Amino acid sequence: MATIKKKKLKLKKGAYILFGILIVTITSLIFGIKYYKDYKYKQTYEYKLINIGYSIDNAKQIISKVNDETINYILNNPQNDLIVDFINEKYFIENNLDNYLKFFEKQNDETLTDIVAMVNTHANNKWYEVTFNTDINLKEKMIVNKFYALNKEYAPTDLKNISLDYSYGNEGDNKLLSYAYDEFMNLWQAANKAGFYLMVTSSYRNYEEQESIYNERKEAQGERKADQTAARPGHSEHQTGLVVDMTSKSEPIESDFKESKTYNWLKENAYKYGFIERYPEGKTYITGYEPESWHWRYVGSEAAKVIHDENITYDEYYAYYIEYKNK
Ligand code: DAL
Ligand code: ZN
Repeated sequence: MATIKKKKLKLKKGAYILFGILIVTITSLIFGIKYYKDYKYKQTYEYKLINIGYSIDNAKQIISKVNDETINYILNNPQNDLIVDFINEKYFIENNLDNYLKFFEKQNDETLTDIVAMVNTHANNKWYEVTFNTDINLKEKMIVNKFYALNKEYAPTDLKNISLDYSYGNEGDNKLLSYAYDEFMNLWQAANKAGFYLMVTSSYRNYEEQESIYNERKEAQGERKADQTAARPGHSEHQTGLVVDMTSKSEPIESDFKESKTYNWLKENAYKYGFIERYPEGKTYITGYEPESWHWRYVGSEAAKVIHDENITYDEYYAYYIEYKNK
């Protein structure tokens, strides 16, 4: 009897020990997993961003919208919700974030959208202060403005004469790069069907021609004024052979072409043929020029549609869609 009791007791003791071990194992497992999870979470960008002061929501937005390099830049700087506002701008370019913030410090009366546009297009600098070479391999997508220049020698090889039926001046005065010429003729026909008669007043100009136009204006008006309406040599789009300055023969242009019905028609339709208004009203802070309702640039119909629909300048389009997105 006594041995049976002893055996039972031993068994009970064994069960208790086993149960104890089980409890200890389970508890350590639970704590271990929790500790490991915490440890892992502390390695995440979300934790690190929250740790320097970003809300969960802002941390999530940052992570979903920018690359590792930019997140590390953000982590190495004091918390700043302005960064999140910049990231949410439509034309936000990651590499420019530091410049957006610096420019905002200097110009905090500008909207964030304008700051992004100016930094993207280099217009946060003084005009002509920094210059780059135009990439001519981009053909109709090449950019020429106050920051991007063509060489003195650059001239398109395949120029076509615009007949005196559609241009003022003498035979041979007006030329366009062949594919821009073909699209210009399509535009001309469409305008004509709609009751408008387009006339070209200026088109391809070589470096020297631009130089004399600019110098003449500078002598007459001074450098500051001249720079508002004429490009310095090498910086004129006219040297690309992709530009037409136009007026209308079908209606009298009394003061400004921009008041004409022809201009309104162009504004609504030219993009279908790949032409854009290059210096629109209200965009001088990006283009550096007073509005020029007569100056239309061929960029191809795909780019022209985006520029038209998004109401941006070619400078903005180039910075975002060609330099940034196309890379
Ligand atoms: N008038 C334009 C800006 C040019 O000179 O090219
Ligand atoms: Zn022009």
